[in-house]
Amino acid sequence: MQMEGNVTVVTGASSGIGKTIAETFVREGGKVAICDINMDGADKVVAELKAGGGEAMAVEMDVTDEDAVNRGVDQVAKQFGRIDTMVSNAGIQIVHAIEEFPYAEFRKLVTIHLDGSFLLTKACVKHMYPQKSGSLIYMGSVHSHEPSALKTAYVAAKHGILGLSRVMAKEGAKHGVRSNTICPGFVKTPLVEKQIPEQAENLGISEDDVVNKIMLGETVDQEFTTMQDVADVALFLASFKSNALTGQSIVPSHGWYMA
Ligand SMILES: NC(=O)c1ccc[n+]([C@@H]2O[C@H](COP(=O)([O-])OP(=O)(O)OC[C@H]3O[C@@H](n4cnc5c(N)ncnc54)[C@H](O)[C@@H]3O)[C@@H](O)[C@H]2O)c1
Repeated sequence: MQMEGNVTVVTGASSGIGKTIAETFVREGGKVAICDINMDGADKVVAELKAGGGEAMAVEMDVTDEDAVNRGVDQVAKQFGRIDTMVSNAGIQIVHAIEEFPYAEFRKLVTIHLDGSFLLTKACVKHMYPQKSGSLIYMGSVHSHEPSALKTAYVAAKHGILGLSRVMAKEGAKHGVRSNTICPGFVKTPLVEKQIPEQAENLGISEDDVVNKIMLGETVDQEFTTMQDVADVALFLASFKSNALTGQSIVPSHGWYMA
């Protein structure tokens, strides 16, 4: 039970990677707040976790809305008594060549990933600093290190998140708060399933080629990373016993980008 007594806020936890992180933390005895704009999904995840004997709460939160983020995090601290771990995970994907990339879509993506991470961090450290402990975990991507065509917005946002996380390692240190980024390779979630036909159309290649050449082409074994792989790294970062591990990026990706 590595998360006993540990309270975690996870954004984008109604689906995909965030949901698996929540399930993993609850299985390890943690209390988890499922924060998402999709409340039907959040309520369903909470019902499943509670049915399994776990402790979880659903929080309606658009990570781009400062009041909603502050209100949501304060509500978690009130109900569960503290905030130990932040997992800033909510995200979307939009792919276009720059000539066709609507500026409004660029802004939308960057605002969810980057502004959302900033707002969530600010709301969480307010609770972590006085207790002199906390673990900030950001969902980066191999795209925090490596570019891909058609992903100006995503790659820029994910590089930005890595920078934010590293600054937080410096600022958080004197308050006992560590900060790290998980940088997964491709994981088959709704976000990625949607990209396969879109990229095939944009690049004029088959869907098989998108998977084998674009998504897995740089891995050492042509394998997708799984949601559980990413959740296991999150568990490691959340339950690490000291603050020796801070300011780092960990890359579960089957060898795509060796940090
Ligand atoms: N799937 C991958 O291959 C992969 C690889 C590397 C990194 N990531 C990152 O992992 C994170 C989760 O992605 P996923 O693949 O699980 O996607 P997903 O689409 O399955 O889940 C994303 C969740 O974020 C929520 N969300 C979207 N906008 C929001 C907002 N404004 N406020 C609150 N919640 C919002 C959605 O409702 C959804 O529940 C993202 O940050 C993504 O960039 C994914």
